[in-house]
Amino acid sequence: MSDVFDNVMDLARRRGFVWPTTECYGSVAGFIDYGPLGTLVKRRIEDLWRQFYVISEGYYEIECPTIGQEAMYIASGHVKGFSDKMCQCPACSEYLRADHVAEAHQVKNAATLSCEDLARSICTLPCPACGKKLGTVEVFSFNLMFQTNIGPGSQRKGYLRPETAQGIFVDFGRLLRFYRDKLPFGTVQIGKSYRNEISPRQGMIRLREFTQAEAEIFVHPEEKEHPNFRRYAEYAFPLLSSEQQLAEVEAKTYTMADAVSKKVIANEYVAYYLALTHELLVTAGVNPQKLRFRQHLPDERAHYAEDCWDAEIFSERFGWVETVGIADRTDYDLRAHADQSGDSFTVYLQYETPRREKRRIINANMGVLGPKYRGKAKAISDALQETTPGKDGATVTIDGEEIFVPADLYEVREEEVDVRGEDIRPHVIEPSYGIDRMIYAVLEHSYHEDEVEGEVRKVMRFPARISPIQVAVFPLMARDGLDTIAGSITRELQNQGILAEYDDSGAIGRRYRRQDEIGTPFAITVDYDTPENETVTLRDRDSMKQVRVRKDQLADLIPALIRGKVAFSSLN
Ligand code: GLY
Repeated sequence: MSDVFDNVMDLARRRGFVWPTTECYGSVAGFIDYGPLGTLVKRRIEDLWRQFYVISEGYYEIECPTIGQEAMYIASGHVKGFSDKMCQCPACSEYLRADHVAEAHQVKNAATLSCEDLARSICTLPCPACGKKLGTVEVFSFNLMFQTNIGPGSQRKGYLRPETAQGIFVDFGRLLRFYRDKLPFGTVQIGKSYRNEISPRQGMIRLREFTQAEAEIFVHPEEKEHPNFRRYAEYAFPLLSSEQQLAEVEAKTYTMADAVSKKVIANEYVAYYLALTHELLVTAGVNPQKLRFRQHLPDERAHYAEDCWDAEIFSERFGWVETVGIADRTDYDLRAHADQSGDSFTVYLQYETPRREKRRIINANMGVLGPKYRGKAKAISDALQETTPGKDGATVTIDGEEIFVPADLYEVREEEVDVRGEDIRPHVIEPSYGIDRMIYAVLEHSYHEDEVEGEVRKVMRFPARISPIQVAVFPLMARDGLDTIAGSITRELQNQGILAEYDDSGAIGRRYRRQDEIGTPFAITVDYDTPENETVTLRDRDSMKQVRVRKDQLADLIPALIRGKVAFSSLN
């Protein structure tokens, strides 16, 4: 029996939203093509995301290569640890995600089990591909990064990026200067990421090439109060905290102010981006009744993360699907790149007023040090500042050589100095969106069927700003000058930047149905009254109501309706 997934994907293929890639050669799981209408929806969702993050938050966008050199992914931990646990069915040879096999049979937190424990937990379970009992199987880790070579030969390893975030982290120094050496600041990136998923069987939900939209917000480690927290302090929605999950109770609604003060959410920054994500997802067309925020359980959360939540969206076919991750990643990433590269990845922050501090000063006696150590004397003098001298002297290391400097060659003094600031390593707050999952959710939640004149009407109830075609323009008949008027209305709207589609083929009812099915929110019809009184009919997709409006109002009215500045119900 078909469910909403089948209906949505049938419509998506037929009407040019999404289809399998390279169909003529046999499609490959984990890759899809966005067709003409799907590409438009994707752009509109990405632009909505930019409206929230780039325009409103002021976090400018950058674009880094999708291939990265090995050092970057050694530092980030992806070379060593970015893997899933897999096994191969002994009967049918299918590669399987071992934790997914276990989870499908109610094994809890399967992703956190060791290879050995997973092998034990699935040995009595059936293979999801052939149905035979798996028996004794080896479970091993499979790195999900696609590896390639940079340049000819195989000397320089590269990887297709598994997330857009690392490009932002390694640009920290340049971004810091761009933002004039102040915290907080944020940078975003939207683009393709790649993960060589073991066994992707869930259409748009698990792709090997997918679009991420990530924001990396660099904040002072001890100042996690969001400067604009008031915007969402009273914003409320259900939260499923780790405590509630462990107690096996339902999600509970909190305002963000309450959630922070009761320590359900670690800090204002995380709470702010949970709320912003809720608003963004609902604006994009996600049904708020099918949206929840779930906190990572202690054994699920990355060891470095201070707090981590997933926005999960309910799908009739896939259940709760993690679509956005919001984490406080502490200074883990910047520290890792500092250790690997030798750059500092810190910011020098001036105190409001200088602090008086005691400092130990070690003054080398250069008159003796110079002749004794010659070319090394200056390096020794500098290195002495960093040592803690013993009673008899201090040992310094110069070019790998340990040198003992007797105490009579330097003088140690304590001085009070004014300290004007310090180098600190920022913490990172990261909201990370899976754009393809978001699009799937919007497609599924927008899909409706109703009955009109004894026929099923399929309608995509996209929010107007997400609809691929924004307005349809029909002449009632393609003659008597109605087509010329409709053509000029179409061009006028297109000149306003509106995607208006002219259609004069078939009965008017059929034309409405075609546009309903692709979610066009408004339709303008030029009829025989138009040449007489300069009015047209304007039809609303969801209510199917029609009103007459003046032709010369359309250029202002249609953009206002699409942006939600004017409600169709206010027209009469
Ligand atoms: N940057 C977080 C993620 O890709 O999951």
